[in-house]
Amino acid sequence: MQTRPLRVLLIEDDQDDYILVSSLLSEISSTSYEIEWAPSYESGLEEIDRDSYDICLLDYRLGSHNGLELLHRMIEQGCRIPVILLTGQGDYSVDLEAMKSGASDYLVKGQINPPLLERSIRYSIERRRAEDALRASEKQLRLLSSQLLKYQESERKRVASELHDDLGQILTAVKFSIENALNHMESDTPISKTLQPLIPTLQHAIEEVRRIYTHLRPSLLDDLGILATIGWFCREFHRLHDNIEISLDTGKIKESDVPEPLKLVIYRIMQEALDNTAKFSSADTVWLTLERSEGSLMLTIRDNGIGFDPEEALSVANPKRGLGLASMQERAELSGGSLTIDSGNGGGTTIKAHWPC
Ligand SMILES: Nc1ncnc2c1ncn2[C@@H]1O[C@H](COP(=O)(O)OP(=O)(O)O)[C@@H](O)[C@H]1O
Ligand SMILES: [Mg+2]
Repeated sequence: MQTRPLRVLLIEDDQDDYILVSSLLSEISSTSYEIEWAPSYESGLEEIDRDSYDICLLDYRLGSHNGLELLHRMIEQGCRIPVILLTGQGDYSVDLEAMKSGASDYLVKGQINPPLLERSIRYSIERRRAEDALRASEKQLRLLSSQLLKYQESERKRVASELHDDLGQILTAVKFSIENALNHMESDTPISKTLQPLIPTLQHAIEEVRRIYTHLRPSLLDDLGILATIGWFCREFHRLHDNIEISLDTGKIKESDVPEPLKLVIYRIMQEALDNTAKFSSADTVWLTLERSEGSLMLTIRDNGIGFDPEEALSVANPKRGLGLASMQERAELSGGSLTIDSGNGGGTTIKAHWPC
């Protein structure tokens, strides 16, 4: 139920048209309107700044300016009042342009009657409310997703350091004590024969723990930086997947070229992309490049594997949808960059992350 009159701003340089629109509005019995008239482009701009209107009716012809120019200015200024463009001529191209520019509706002056005007105003306001609600929930989701990624990173760091400081140290101490005990006894005693096989088992456990905590968060990243970490990761990758050659090019870039907050993002994108290559691509070569050109930083990971359909893989409707590609995209965008996935049947896969900096 409407509790107050709807506030209408009419930006219109012809007084006769102002009188006509006022009279059309007064004929609408279901709603009451309060109309404010801005008779020029300049006064329209001033009024819009007040941001106290529910709807703006904007004339296409405004002296030496036109309504679309004003509409662009309004959008630039972040004005969220819905705008209905009024024009004296039934010009389809103006109509299209108005919609592209963000107008909510387009009405031809000679054809407006009270029910048409009432419906156009009502729909425009409703649509803008729905859009604003959608924007707000998108913003909320973004925030949630960035908090989730931050939380995930801090948890990974915590678990990695506990594995390193606690479990890793305990296993090393046990292995050391057993080795020490073995050094003090004859090697063919029953107790020595029981203890000896534990050494390689413990060594294996120590290496596993190291592999897990390094995968969670390589301390190299904090200690030696992103370039050394990429180099180490690629060598590790090739050691584990010796059927895949890896060609690395970070030759021209310096550690100081990579902004500090991007280092972990780059590492996580590379980790996920190479993990996918190993799991799905059947590629025999991967090319990884990190380069800086004027004003931008670009990470490219390309494989010559079987490729896939990125649209399908990322589709919310896909029940097998993984999180890897989406999280790469999310990480790139949350850090101010963008990420593209170019892949097709048989043509390999290219992941490009790009940051302006
Ligand atoms: N480099 C690649 N080559 C071939 N297929 C890929 C590649 N990267 C991703 N895919 C496909 O995209 C899907 C989604 O990947 P991702 O989002 O990382 O989820 P997950 O790894 O959990 O399956 C994979 O299941 C795979 O089918
Ligand atoms: Mg994956």
